[in-house]
Amino acid sequence: MDRFKITGGGPLKGEVTVNGSKNAALPVLVASLLTDEPFEVSRLPLLRDIRTTFRILEALGKKIDYENDRAVITSAGQLSTSAPYDLVKQMRASNLVAGPLVARFKHARVPLPGGCAIGLRPMDIHLSAFEKLGATVATEQGDIVLTAKKLRGAHIKFPFPSVGATENIMMCAALVPGTTVIENPALEPEIADLALCLNEMGADVKLSHKTITITGKEAMHGAKHRVTADRIEAGTYLIAVASGGGRAKIRGCVPGDLKALLSALEKSGAKISVNGDCIEITGPARPKPVSITTKPHPGFPTDLQAPWMAYMCRAKGLCRIRETIFENRFMHAAELARMGANILVKGNTAYIRGVERLSGAIVMSSDLRGGAALALAALSANGGTEIQRVYHIDRGYFRLEEGLRGLGAKMLREHIKE
Ligand code: EPZ
Repeated sequence: MDRFKITGGGPLKGEVTVNGSKNAALPVLVASLLTDEPFEVSRLPLLRDIRTTFRILEALGKKIDYENDRAVITSAGQLSTSAPYDLVKQMRASNLVAGPLVARFKHARVPLPGGCAIGLRPMDIHLSAFEKLGATVATEQGDIVLTAKKLRGAHIKFPFPSVGATENIMMCAALVPGTTVIENPALEPEIADLALCLNEMGADVKLSHKTITITGKEAMHGAKHRVTADRIEAGTYLIAVASGGGRAKIRGCVPGDLKALLSALEKSGAKISVNGDCIEITGPARPKPVSITTKPHPGFPTDLQAPWMAYMCRAKGLCRIRETIFENRFMHAAELARMGANILVKGNTAYIRGVERLSGAIVMSSDLRGGAALALAALSANGGTEIQRVYHIDRGYFRLEEGLRGLGAKMLREHIKE
């Protein structure tokens, strides 16, 4: 298992370009199941989860050729409709294969992905939506089995704007006769990117600020899709630069996807200027405390909650972070406390009283964004930090250490023989 060795140092400077979005790339890759024609995706971040998705698609009968950030997906014969457990258990987003498979073949068998460190991650919103489209849902030995005689468009109101359920139903409804309206859908930028991709494949998906309307088609054709920028990676770099009082440019972003973060950064004393796809940030010597509550988009993203906590560990005063999306997403707090942070967690709220400077320590990643938060804290801490279980970070960031080193961070990856 790899570990990071980071020496706390001066402010970050220079510029870095973000990769394509992992959370947009995953559903886009799965959308290839909607057609047998060649399907090309570019600006792919070659992360572990992307490679796991390749293996799941191959297990279902797709052929994948990829080089650098581009993949071409073709059909290698009749598709299977059962996703393999040993791959699905590695990545929750594998449950997205259900939508395309049940739409095309009226059958899908997908292992319940199980929970993960940050929460139980149930699928109830997905499953009740599939039933509204006419599918029958059964559970057999830990698998979800979807079957359908006839699927038809439906009006579906989500009790919560689930990102995955929105993606699953969008992909399914693209091939279901009639019109499907999703009320209270997720509106994250990754949803817009999937809608763009589906429409490039011949679907009819329309987004409004309150609903998504999909008019089902007979068939979908191949397409060439370029994945949108990773707003969470961009946000992580912005917070990293602000944390050390540095000044840098983050290129290849969609600034409009980061409004909540940019507003919180400015409240903390950072100076931001936006020019096209480039965001320039100058961090404060020490941030003002800024309380945040995570919310569905366009609110403050839950995936930047941990990096924000790392930033607030050095704030001049007390702030509060409320996590409303996942039930267990403060595991990084205990590790930050090992570095001298002053954090009190009570239920879904963390209270942080900033300190002048953190101190390096040996710490452990528990999930992908919590691990990144530890790296950000280490960059401006006194002394050296060792971050263990870096594989968590590698699930969400493509070579994070290269990006941060490009900004002047003293950060090394050590390969540990198991
Ligand atoms: C996506 O997860 C992202 N993952 C997550 O990013 C992100 O944190 C999350 O959306 C919220 O923005 C990918 O896109 C691959 P949800 P997803 O369905 O789709 C509950 C990262 O760090 N829920 O919106 O699983 C669920 O338990 C990852 O990159 C139900 O109760 O998120 C959670 O508490 C982490 N029933 C909340 O909703 C359901 O049927 C949000 O889940 C579905 C979800």
